[in-house]
Amino acid sequence: HSVGIIGAPFSKGQQRDGVQRGADHIRAAGLVQKLKGQGCVVKDYGNLTFEDVPKDEPVGMLKTPRAVGRANELLAGAVQKIKSDGNTCVMLGGDHSLAIGSISGHAASRNELSVLWVDAHADINTPLTTPTGNIHGQPLSYLIYELHSKIPIIPNFSWLKPCVAAKDVVFIGLRDLDPGEHYILKHLGIKAFSMTEVDRLGIAKVMEQTCDHMFSKVKKPIHLSFDIDALDPSVSPATGTPVAGGLTYREGIYITEHICQTGLLSAVDMVEVNPNLGKTEDEIKSTVNAAVDLLLGCFGRVREGSHEPDYKIP
Ligand code: ARG
Ligand code: MN
Ligand code: MN
Ligand code: MN
Repeated sequence: HSVGIIGAPFSKGQQRDGVQRGADHIRAAGLVQKLKGQGCVVKDYGNLTFEDVPKDEPVGMLKTPRAVGRANELLAGAVQKIKSDGNTCVMLGGDHSLAIGSISGHAASRNELSVLWVDAHADINTPLTTPTGNIHGQPLSYLIYELHSKIPIIPNFSWLKPCVAAKDVVFIGLRDLDPGEHYILKHLGIKAFSMTEVDRLGIAKVMEQTCDHMFSKVKKPIHLSFDIDALDPSVSPATGTPVAGGLTYREGIYITEHICQTGLLSAVDMVEVNPNLGKTEDEIKSTVNAAVDLLLGCFGRVREGSHEPDYKIP
């Protein structure tokens, strides 16, 4: 695997300070060295710098829309570049509003994508259905063709064009949806495995059916958008909107192992790691280590172990 990493220390898609520090914590836990240790070629493109956007007054419900729009425009360019350099792109957040730029930049370099959204939340509120005004709860509504007519004009978002079809999105891990989001999922017929389906089917069948759905016609490159709050808060407590009853560590790892085996993983987001929200050093560690292990699973680490093809027993 050749992997290009971009850090996006951005937090204005939500209101809790600290999530902008997620990327550096994931790096400090040894992500680059560990990826190299499992045979990846890794280029770290560093962190983006996001300038302050003055007078960023709300637009309707939307909080700090200009900062979010500008940050994602920058990120989209960076992801497009990393893809054109021939890498699988890893975007380290930051909050989940960054999926707007990450998926846009990815789509600009490819024809069509499948998006696998692993999250407690659907993040598909529109600017009119959002109960909070936080844009990290809305990125998919800006990206999906079928919702285009529901998105008003927002300052600093004029660069953005929808780039994903509703049929090409799959959710895993859902357990906290707003009414408008549930309506949109049903209305557009979006494939979703809530925690109820994970309980009913088990994670192996969920992944089988996820792949069947994504590969039903042509094999599109996969964009995996992984919100760390998909995992149970006992594993990843240091996050802004934790919800009880999430994926186990093992279910999370299984998802990444299975996606890796498809050979179609083209970009990954790892978002919503907020080191400020760990109550203890151990809570921060557990959250950050889970993020690292999920990324290692995306790039070939398997739990059964492995050895070089020319290995000889001494
Ligand atoms: N549904 C809520 C909202 O729209 C929560 C979203 C949480 N999103 C996240 N990326 N953690 O505000
Ligand atoms: Mn979430
Ligand atoms: Mn499969
Ligand atoms: Mn999310």
